[in-house]
Amino acid sequence: MTAAHAVASAGATSIYAVIGNPIQQSKSPLIHGMFAQATGQNMQYTTIEGPLGGFAGAVDAFRALGGLGLNITAPFKLDAFAYATERSERAQLAGAANAMKFDGARVLAENFDGVGLVRDVTHNLGCSLKGKRILLLGAGGAARGALLPFLEQAPAELVIANRSVDKALELAKIGAAKGNVRGCAYTELVGQTFDVVFNATSASLRAELPPVPASVFANCGLAYELAYGKGLTPFLRLAQNAGVKQLADGVGMLAEQAAEAFVWWRGVRPDTRTVINKLTVPLV
Ligand code: ATR
Repeated sequence: MTAAHAVASAGATSIYAVIGNPIQQSKSPLIHGMFAQATGQNMQYTTIEGPLGGFAGAVDAFRALGGLGLNITAPFKLDAFAYATERSERAQLAGAANAMKFDGARVLAENFDGVGLVRDVTHNLGCSLKGKRILLLGAGGAARGALLPFLEQAPAELVIANRSVDKALELAKIGAAKGNVRGCAYTELVGQTFDVVFNATSASLRAELPPVPASVFANCGLAYELAYGKGLTPFLRLAQNAGVKQLADGVGMLAEQAAEAFVWWRGVRPDTRTVINKLTVPLV
C-alpha cells in the first residue's frame, strides 16, 4: 500500500500545501479551502515558507508528515521540476513545475499554469483560440508555461515577442514541432494585427508597459494580462484605448490552474466561479 492510500483509507484529513518564498501573499490556501468546502473534501491546505536553497529538505519533511501534494510558487518552480521523479509533457516543455503529487516514492510534477490560462480564456471568457492569430508578449517562465497549451488549441499562428529576441526565438523553436509558432522583436510587430493578445511579461508588476505597438490591437477581440489583481495595467489601458472590447487579467487563470491541481489530487472538479468573483479586482 502506498503512503497516499494509507492516508486516504484511514479516513484521515489529507494534507496539501503551497510552498514558496515569500509565501504570505499566496491566495492558494483561500482557493483550495473554498474548493474543499464546496466539494466536501476532507483536506487541509497550508503554506510552507521554503528556505532559499533548502527546497528539497522542506519537501522531504512535508512528505514525512504524510503530505500528499504541493503547489509550487516562486522561486521554487525549477527546484520542483528537478525534485520530481516523473514529469508531464507540459511540465517538461515549461521546464518548471507548479504542482506535485506524492505517491510513495513517486513524485509527479505538473505545470497547470498554461492549461489554467487556456481554460479561463476558452471556458470562462468564451473565446476560442482555434484558427486565431495569437500574440504572446514575453518569453520568461509564464510565457513558457503557456506555449504547449496554446499550440494544443490549434491557432492559425502564435507569435512570441520579447525584448531579448533570442529568448523568443528559442521558445518558438521549442514549440515548432507542435504548431505554427514564431519568435520576433517588438519592432517587427508594426503592421501586424492579432485576434488575441496576451501579456506574459512581468512588466505590469512594476506598472511598466512592454514596447508593443498599439496597432497590434486593430482587430483584437481580447487582451489578457496574466498578472492579476493590478486593476487596469498599462498594457490593458493601451488595449482599451485601442478599442479592444474584452479585457481580462489573470484571476481566472489563477483559479483555473488551482482547479486543475485539485482535480489531479482529489478526482473532483470544483466550480471556479465563486473563487473568481471573490478575488476579482475591478479593471479600472
Ligand atoms: P516570469 O516567470 O514572470 O515569466 P521571468 O521568467 O523573469 O518572469 O520573465 C520575465 C519576462 O518579462 C521576460 O520575457 C522579460 O523580457 P526579457 O527576457 O527581455 O528580459 C519580460 N519583461 C520584464 N519587464 C519588461 C518590460 N518592462 N518590457 C518588456 N518586457 C519585460
